[in-house]
Amino acid sequence: MGRNKEERDSQYADAGVSPASTGPILPARSRANTLWDNSGMTITIKDAQGIEGMRLAGRLTAEVLDYLTPYVLPGVTTNALDKLVHDYIVDVQQGIPAPLNYKGGGNTPYPKSVCTSINHQVCHGIPNDKPLKKGDIVNIDVTVIKDGWHGDSSRMYLVGETSIAARRLCSVTFEAMWKGIMLVRPGIHLGDIGFAIQQFTEGHGFSVVREFCGHGIGRGFHEEPQVLHYGRPGTLDVLQAGMVFTIEPMINAGRREIKDGPEKDGWTIVTKDHSLSAQWEHTVLVTPTGYEVLTVSAGTPPPPAFVPRAAAA
Ligand code: MF3
Ligand code: CO
Ligand code: CO
Repeated sequence: MGRNKEERDSQYADAGVSPASTGPILPARSRANTLWDNSGMTITIKDAQGIEGMRLAGRLTAEVLDYLTPYVLPGVTTNALDKLVHDYIVDVQQGIPAPLNYKGGGNTPYPKSVCTSINHQVCHGIPNDKPLKKGDIVNIDVTVIKDGWHGDSSRMYLVGETSIAARRLCSVTFEAMWKGIMLVRPGIHLGDIGFAIQQFTEGHGFSVVREFCGHGIGRGFHEEPQVLHYGRPGTLDVLQAGMVFTIEPMINAGRREIKDGPEKDGWTIVTKDHSLSAQWEHTVLVTPTGYEVLTVSAGTPPPPAFVPRAAAA
């Protein structure tokens, strides 16, 4: 689309972000541009063949998440989950785990095949040898490359018996993702999606992480556009049929601020106030009449009751 930096900056300013509260550059942009280096790219429109490729990559991604479900129990290490993910994608699906060695924009290469973010970890947690324990909530984020196309999806898993507060955070975050997905159709603005997610989330007393956002996806892992999970209606890009992007809100039980994790591994992000954080992610295609969720499989949790059935086809 060839928008220059100034145009982009003013569009983002319109999205409801004041320099006073965020600093001179929107953290979502600077962080994402640092990590993914997708700035200056234009939004790709997928043709019929591209959509077929994205459907397959999306289904395989969801099937990895299904496959993991029975293993996410107290006592299992995230390294064991990482090995399951790696071997399933490589040996069974004949695909590539996109995170492994992923460099983004000059970041240190990601060392594992999956991201596992536990409790107050917001995103990009690196698997290790520490066992999960009863009461943990863990986000597992899988990205499969198949025939050059990417599918990207994450779910929350409850480890054994969890607190009511933790379960509520996970379910509100799931619903927040769907509040965004259900709006997707040609002609709406990206700002409409961010606004809906933010309104719903804050209405439940939770907060939306600003520094990370959804993203276009296709032959690239992180393409334009950035899909903010907060904002103002009628702002930012207008959707067109054939666009594919993720919606992946990170929602904190407490304050929205984040920081680098104490691991200092260059990836793990945690909540500043140590409150719980949850995230769900789907890859979504804009169709001529609405949307199609691409990261679906037999085990995908069904949409919440408030999502109209017809539009979800
Ligand atoms: N899957 C993440 C996303 O939703 C990105 C992870 S990049 C990694 O965009 F290198 F940390 F794996
Ligand atoms: Co993503
Ligand atoms: Co992801």
